[in-house]
Amino acid sequence: MQTVNIAGMTVPQTAALAPMAGVADTAYRQLCREMGAVMCVSEMISAKGLCYQSKGSAELCRITEQERPMGLQLFGSEPEFLARAAELLMPYKPDWIDLNMGCPVHKVVQTGAGSALMRTPELAAECVQAVVQHCDVPVTVKMRIGFDAEHINAVSFAKCMESAGAAALTVHGRTKSMLYSGKADWEIIRQVREAVQIPVIGNGDVSGAESCRAMYAQTGVALVAIGRASYGNPWVFREIACAAEGLPYTPPTPQERMETMLRHIRMILEYSDKPPALAIREARKQTSWYMAGSRNAAAFRSACFSLSSYEEAETLAGEYLKANEIGGLPVAEIGGAARPPIPPSAGE
Ligand SMILES: Cc1cc2nc3c(=O)[nH]c(=O)nc-3n(C[C@H](O)[C@H](O)[C@H](O)COP(=O)(O)O)c2cc1C
Repeated sequence: MQTVNIAGMTVPQTAALAPMAGVADTAYRQLCREMGAVMCVSEMISAKGLCYQSKGSAELCRITEQERPMGLQLFGSEPEFLARAAELLMPYKPDWIDLNMGCPVHKVVQTGAGSALMRTPELAAECVQAVVQHCDVPVTVKMRIGFDAEHINAVSFAKCMESAGAAALTVHGRTKSMLYSGKADWEIIRQVREAVQIPVIGNGDVSGAESCRAMYAQTGVALVAIGRASYGNPWVFREIACAAEGLPYTPPTPQERMETMLRHIRMILEYSDKPPALAIREARKQTSWYMAGSRNAAAFRSACFSLSSYEEAETLAGEYLKANEIGGLPVAEIGGAARPPIPPSAGE
């Protein structure tokens, strides 16, 4: 299998897991790594939160051996805080530090952090320099193609980040204004890749082996990163690895999906610092994704949003499989009264 070197790490040239706040936590990252994601990044961590010893921020820094190679991602817009935060990250031994310059969430952007940094390249460069000087691991940047359609500055911004000391760049092919709508612009990702010497990781709208191959072909990126296509589908990484090796890929059976879903819940319970009742509530969203696209998916999804214990999840999985085996009972009744789904938490 072809390999690639990203920020000092040699990995197969297949696909990495993109960072996703509120989704790609320890359990999620471990599962994706197991299924073939070649590297992963933490949820974004507030530099100020770390400096002010916020418990939540410190919890996000945990790295398990199974997740490596793994980066810790910081967001912030003040070089002094980022520098101090980078020092505070060192005891967690990240393989690299990633700086978030793509987050479109208002709460973050209004502080000048996340995608707002794409409007202030000089400040963004100072942020990179400050972190480079205060840590002993490579520093990478995750960016978008610009702030809005009138300000697409990915190429000049990428060069600026490279000059400031970034070891690699991940480019999500959307502007901040697009949030997650429209289509990621892979042509601009290609232009960035051509303009810099450091490795570029392409990101946006890769959903499986076919689109992954297309992104490599169209952009020439060193690596591809996948976010949303891994929702309830960590197998997407196996699919891509199989394609890269010319091996046939067999999608998971409903049985395998359920077993993995249950294992995912057990892992969430194991790694969560919250009481089990709360952790299960937070696991509902993840659980509900596992049957997307299958028969009776909507009913299954609804039932997931009323789960309040691991045992209930086991019962739901058993009932679902049984119902489908015998040709589809009124699955809306599975797992008790179906409540309307809670919308997944937003945020980058
Ligand atoms: C729920 C959610 C949370 C996200 N959180 C982060 C984050 O913490 N840091 C970051 O750099 N990007 C974050 N992103 C952006 C993703 O890493 C990725 O750039 C984006 O989803 C596009 O890739 P995709 O089309 O493969 O999903 C988030 C995206 C989603 C959907």
